[in-house]
Amino acid sequence: MLKVGINAYGTIGKRVAEAITKQNDMQVTGVIKAHPNYMSYVASKRFKLFVPDNSALKAFENSGIKVEGTLENLMDDSELIIDSTPEGMGEEYKKIYEKKRIKAIFQGGEDHELTNLSFNAYANFKEAWGKDFVRVVSCNTTGLIRTLFPLTEYGSIKVRANLVRRATDPDDYQKGPINSIVPELKIPSHHGPDVASVIKGLDIQTMAVKVPTTLMHLHFVNVTFPREVKTEEIIEKWKKYRRIAFVSGKDGVKSTSQLMDIARETGRERSDLYEIMLWKDSVSVKGNELFYYQAVHQESDVVPENIDAIRSTFQLKEKQDSIDRTDKTLRIGELAYGR
Ligand SMILES: NC(=O)c1ccc[n+]([C@@H]2O[C@H](COP(=O)([O-])OP(=O)(O)OC[C@H]3O[C@@H](n4cnc5c(N)ncnc54)[C@H](OP(=O)(O)O)[C@@H]3O)[C@@H](O)[C@H]2O)c1
Repeated sequence: MLKVGINAYGTIGKRVAEAITKQNDMQVTGVIKAHPNYMSYVASKRFKLFVPDNSALKAFENSGIKVEGTLENLMDDSELIIDSTPEGMGEEYKKIYEKKRIKAIFQGGEDHELTNLSFNAYANFKEAWGKDFVRVVSCNTTGLIRTLFPLTEYGSIKVRANLVRRATDPDDYQKGPINSIVPELKIPSHHGPDVASVIKGLDIQTMAVKVPTTLMHLHFVNVTFPREVKTEEIIEKWKKYRRIAFVSGKDGVKSTSQLMDIARETGRERSDLYEIMLWKDSVSVKGNELFYYQAVHQESDVVPENIDAIRSTFQLKEKQDSIDRTDKTLRIGELAYGR
């Protein structure tokens, strides 16, 4: 069993930790929290709890929440660290992991240059094979890669995608609510270059706006192919990939609210939707141009990617075997039914 430490237990870290407990080739050695609060208490009941360094010990001691030690101790007992610390902290932590000679997987809030290896299981599983440092791309970038990678079979495609981004996550009371639509004025938004760091050479431009919702992101995507294509053949291609789930307005699924309802009603843990939800009835072809809408559950779509990245860095399983195991344990693929 590969021993994995989680630094830190936030939106992404807690989900990756839980997903690891469902695998039979890896285990969680402990999780890090920086401040003693209700979530630290919850974490301490589920996993061994650690803190970043000695300076945090006193505050935890005063709070009465039991702590096993510091990151240093967690690393002593681990073979890999999932770094799910807040955006931008990875650079400092990477120095610590390097010094300790321990492998780490970073998240999409870090720059590609931190590891020079951005990861998506479908697109480049083998590139992370045996590597020390890997970055799993962000939720939006993961969403775009999931549906675009199958289309690269057609040769050189041109992608123009618009992203409607959730303002913040549901547990965050500080950044929201915003009563505004906030355009990302830098064009392309970082998502396009990020996708191209995984699907190398892809012609992609993205624009993004932030809106007052916490549930999901929504993308509208336009792809131009080198030849004419048919709607049915595109759908058949996507159907081979379990991490894409079809839904349909004909079944009453007309918004991100209803997607979240599907997650709740099907008993998904934390109401997570690991799949990219693609509206089948939005898939339209005009000559050699394709149009579609998809939605991304930002809190969870990167979770299976982290599990596969762990297996690739430790050469535990080949690509399809890893993806199949991850999908089975997380019930990925059960939702695909949209008309
Ligand atoms: N949320 C998303 O939608 C999403 C999606 C994909 C990728 N990502 C990426 O995943 C990464 C983590 O994001 P997140 O949303 O999970 O963040 P988050 O929910 O804010 O959690 C961050 C965690 O880091 C801890 N922390 C704070 N200061 C720390 C320190 N000095 N050392 C170690 N831990 C510290 C916090 O603990 P305390 O509460 O105790 O301070 C918290 O548990 C980022 O790179 C982000 O861009 C996020």
